[in-house]
Amino acid sequence: MDLFEYQARDLFAKHDVPVLAGEVIDTPEAAREITERLGGKSVVKAQVKVGGRGKAGGVKLAASADEAVARATDILGMDIKGHTVHKVMIAETAPEILEEYYVSFLLDRANRTFLSIASVEGGMEIEEVAATRPEAVAQTPINAIDGVDLAKAKEIVAAAKFPAEVADKVADVLVRLWDTFVKSDALLVEVNPLAKVASGDVIALDGKVSLDDNAEFRHDWDELHDKAAANPLEAAAKEKNLNYVKLDGEVGIIGNGAGLVMSTLDVVAYAGEKHGGVKPANFLDIGGGASAQVMANGLEIILGDPDVKSVFVNVFGGITACDEVANGIVQALKLLEDRGEDVTKPLVVRLDGNNAELGRQILTDANHPLVQRVDTMDGAADKAAELAHAAK
Ligand SMILES: Nc1ncnc2c1ncn2[C@@H]1O[C@H](COP(=O)(O)OP(=O)(O)O)[C@@H](O)[C@H]1O
Ligand SMILES: [Mg+2]
Repeated sequence: MDLFEYQARDLFAKHDVPVLAGEVIDTPEAAREITERLGGKSVVKAQVKVGGRGKAGGVKLAASADEAVARATDILGMDIKGHTVHKVMIAETAPEILEEYYVSFLLDRANRTFLSIASVEGGMEIEEVAATRPEAVAQTPINAIDGVDLAKAKEIVAAAKFPAEVADKVADVLVRLWDTFVKSDALLVEVNPLAKVASGDVIALDGKVSLDDNAEFRHDWDELHDKAAANPLEAAAKEKNLNYVKLDGEVGIIGNGAGLVMSTLDVVAYAGEKHGGVKPANFLDIGGGASAQVMANGLEIILGDPDVKSVFVNVFGGITACDEVANGIVQALKLLEDRGEDVTKPLVVRLDGNNAELGRQILTDANHPLVQRVDTMDGAADKAAELAHAAK
């Protein structure tokens, strides 16, 4: 999960990384009171999860409360690289900025280590600096066990050739930033710019943080989720612990096992070429041991997707035998019908593997008007695509 700048700022503050005051708002008028409290001037900053906001006109200085309201009016609703600005941060204005540096910690998957990237040429995008002046970017691997103590931080500072007068301060920031990185289970913490201001202090003026979703169980991140941006179907699926990803086609997909579901997406997309170009509407892996309840949960999400015109249930019985899955499907449909859900979309079911014959017989006996059995994966994909096209 990527954080907004204001959330990164709050996280930095919690770990004593030096930041300026800032508050997030979603109406221009709210900028007035905050700016007055900040001494009559502020910086209005678009909160979108994309870099280069400054260049795009999403970061503006305001010399008065009136001006802050005007800049917030300009920036709210703006489009920055395809992201609509719904919130702005009203930040304290940095004292005169003398220099802008770059520092970050990240997970370096390719080299199976953590990495520090630091440069005295911050402010602009680091990719640009790395491309044009690679010698200005210092990359230092960080051992996961040793982490970043003051000695390691000084090594980074030396490698990036920070000026002597800020060396100790930058090293201190690096230790705190590493602490933020580890304690937050982050994959990336980036400060750009880390500004040297007139007083000689260094301050994090911009922050980018990516948290490791796999660590969410250890944290209380509820508030950090951007509910406005979340796809409602994905959010509902997440609540039911389903591995679901919304796609932009018309054929709803349910399968057991991520590998099988991935190949189901492929065969449906391929079959769809013959049927008006229909495509998979989603990825949904209901995993092994798919009970009627799990099947019902999955079906409910998929049938609730207005884009879905037909559903392909593709199950290969392994540890879970096909008869259990078939019973699951029949019970799931009944469960949804009893609940008054709108169950009207055709289902194509392919069962193979452990106890396939028995499973198929259960479906045949149930004789549900919406369910068709097709016993090969390609044949079932073709049928589901045909039905989706016909219903379009
Ligand atoms: N609080 C602030 N006070 C003064 N100048 C700022 C402040 N925040 C940002 N800036 C200036 O605006 C530039 C761009 O802002 P930044 O937050 O880095 O956005 P982005 O990286 O998305 O362009 C910074 O490099 C800095 O020069
Ligand atoms: Mg920046």
